Amino acid sequence: MSLTFGIIKPDAVAAGNAGKILALIEANGFKLRAVRMTKLAKDEAEGFYAVHQGKPFFEGLVEFMTSGPCILLCLEKENAFAEWRKLMGATNPANADEGTIRKLFAESIGKNAAHGSDSEENAAIELAWFFRAYELA
Ligand code: CMP
Repeated sequence: MSLTFGIIKPDAVAAGNAGKILALIEANGFKLRAVRMTKLAKDEAEGFYAVHQGKPFFEGLVEFMTSGPCILLCLEKENAFAEWRKLMGATNPANADEGTIRKLFAESIGKNAAHGSDSEENAAIELAWFFRAYELA
């Protein structure tokens, strides 16, 4: 079993889709190891997305991610990061497969309902950015 990090983004929470997404996560065999609803501060979002600093969408991304409450997730499953990315679907919902979270709930590449770590290594880094070790124990 491995762990990955996910976010139910502000668009999905504001639209009232958080419960449906959590239900899909459980229906797809993930165990919820930690869940926290929060509103990200600007420095938290900037630090989390530091790898995208300087890209044309960076400021809009930070503004969007701090615009309202989101839900931080630690998900457990065999091959968790790849399985969670498969369930989320393509970053751009226009390219997302049927039945995926982004196909069902996202409206654009910016407002795309969910985030997921892109590797096991980054999952560990992202989990440590938002959760204390005792929350994941
Ligand atoms: P996420 O998985 O949270 O990681 C970085 C985010 O940047 C990504 O989802 C998108 O929401 C956003 N993003 C990536 N590329 C673009 C883009 N070209 N325009 C706007 N937002 C983008």
